[in-house]
Amino acid sequence: MSAAEEEPDSAMEAEFDTVAAWTEEAVRALGPGHAIPAACRGSGSPADLAWLARGLDLRGGETFLDAGAGLGGPAAWLAEHVADRWHGRPVLTEPMVHAAASSRRLFGFPTVAAVTEALPIATASVDVAWSLGVLCVTRSRPEMLAELRRVLRPGGRLGLLVLQRGDAPLPEQPEGNDFPTREELDALLPDAGFTVVDEIDAARLPAAPPGWGERADRVEEHLRRHHGDHPAWRAAQAQKQVMGRLLGERWVTTRLLRAVRHGAERS
Ligand SMILES: C[S@@+](CC[C@H](N)C(=O)[O-])C[C@H]1O[C@@H](n2cnc3c(N)ncnc32)[C@H](O)[C@@H]1O
Repeated sequence: MSAAEEEPDSAMEAEFDTVAAWTEEAVRALGPGHAIPAACRGSGSPADLAWLARGLDLRGGETFLDAGAGLGGPAAWLAEHVADRWHGRPVLTEPMVHAAASSRRLFGFPTVAAVTEALPIATASVDVAWSLGVLCVTRSRPEMLAELRRVLRPGGRLGLLVLQRGDAPLPEQPEGNDFPTREELDALLPDAGFTVVDEIDAARLPAAPPGWGERADRVEEHLRRHHGDHPAWRAAQAQKQVMGRLLGERWVTTRLLRAVRHGAERS
């Protein structure tokens, strides 16, 4: 059964699996130039990716993991933008099986359906990893960070994009998301064995260039035309609208962090 025929169990599944898989169809219809903007689902601006990429400084044949990769757009952006100094291939993990399969077909990178809490990846085998918009969709942040620590080699670099909330209760809650506070994240990272080396509020970085936004909008319009009456599309739109309001009014902010994994192995 295709993703389009199934009823999603939750708003998260609607957004991250069903609509993600439809996005592949839209890219096929509109052309490959639409793939990366359409497949960046949560990381948004190329400026965010550029800020992370600069400090992560992927080089030579280093190994790179995108954990919770969604449709694979950020990893594809990275591979394209560091091609002059990095000749590796991203490895992607993503628990939503339709999204993972679409990502593999769109970009051809090795992609495994897996949660970040249990990565099918050898200990200390990864030089650089990033996880974008994932620590804010589940409460299992400590387990995810412990697993990222396990797979990164000592001294390995980690990039994070995290939607974080302030201390006040949110006026509305998008289903399935679980935003950490700044204090929570500040405590979690050292507890998990990471030192934060740099961070920025993404609001300080430039917005996406018009060409990027126009391509993403064309894909959205294609989805609306072909799937606009489907419950999954409506659930995903409702989620997006809540997120848009929370970000627009800065109840929730986008924090980018670069961290380094501490040296010694834990028993
Ligand atoms: C906001 S999207 C971001 C996707 C992608 N990183 C990007 O920036 O385009 C959040 C992603 O986290 C994935 N996710 C949810 N729970 C997860 C888990 N336990 N482990 C790994 N990924 C998870 C979702 O399926 C979804 O693809």
